[in-house]
Amino acid sequence: MGPVLELTDVTITRNGTKLLDRVTWSVDPSDRWVVLGPNGAGKTTLLQIASARMHPTSGTATLLGETLGSVDVFELRPRIGLTSAAVADRIPRHERVHDVVVSASYAVLGRWRERYDDLDHDRARLLLAWLGVGEYADRTFGTLSEGERKRVQIARALMADPELLLLDEPAAGLDLAGRESLVRTLHQIAADPTAPATALVTHHVEEIPPSFTHVILLRAGAIVSAGPINDVLSSAALSETFGMSLKLVRSGTRYTARAA
Ligand SMILES: Nc1ncnc2c1ncn2[C@@H]1O[C@H](COP(=O)(O)OP(=O)(O)O)[C@@H](O)[C@H]1O
Ligand SMILES: [Mg+2]
Repeated sequence: MGPVLELTDVTITRNGTKLLDRVTWSVDPSDRWVVLGPNGAGKTTLLQIASARMHPTSGTATLLGETLGSVDVFELRPRIGLTSAAVADRIPRHERVHDVVVSASYAVLGRWRERYDDLDHDRARLLLAWLGVGEYADRTFGTLSEGERKRVQIARALMADPELLLLDEPAAGLDLAGRESLVRTLHQIAADPTAPATALVTHHVEEIPPSFTHVILLRAGAIVSAGPINDVLSSAALSETFGMSLKLVRSGTRYTARAA
């Protein structure tokens, strides 16, 4: 199978500023990517392209074999799972958690909804349990903690069995235990060979789950370095990415970084 995502020389310009600057990036089905970079580096913009919500100003973006500009994005989007603060804001706070997840399957075009209803409900229950929030299925979304909401959003993103999973700062706003627990869950998802290709945005190396395989370092819209984590992630590369002298420490399967 070919790459699920292939960007070639992608530039996005807004008001004369390059939000992305000649980005060339390829994601294979078995890849689990970390997208790392400081605030404003273009990480969210990159996911907007990868989820068919933005088009390149120049260059080409091919998603799941379809090239943006010559494909109906409304057919493409249900095949891509996305979580972000913007997506979360659109979830009604009064909606039942189970419904938040199961309703994602209705976005898939060409399905005979009634026929698959039971399967959909089973899958939603399974995903909520897998994400560790099965017991909250009957609560309303608004009554959940921030960490529980992140898990429900990931279950929702997985509901339509996407071929590409995009997570924009899923650990933002979580406390230490919440972060560690989410990193463990993301590790388990990424370690599952049947899970979709994944790209996880963060600006903290502490949030890199052990089973993630690749990293793309972004600074000011451009790639500093990209490839297998062990080849790319170093004190020097991190320092260049964040514009500060940093020391990267690997302890076991996890990373920490601090000023050098
Ligand atoms: N529609 C827009 N018009 C102009 N500038 C934008 C627009 N969207 C984002 N930006 C700018 O582009 C840069 C990259 O943004 P973003 O992709 O959100 O970065 P990140 O997610 O890495 O923090 C930021 O400087 C941001 O202010
Ligand atoms: Mg962002």
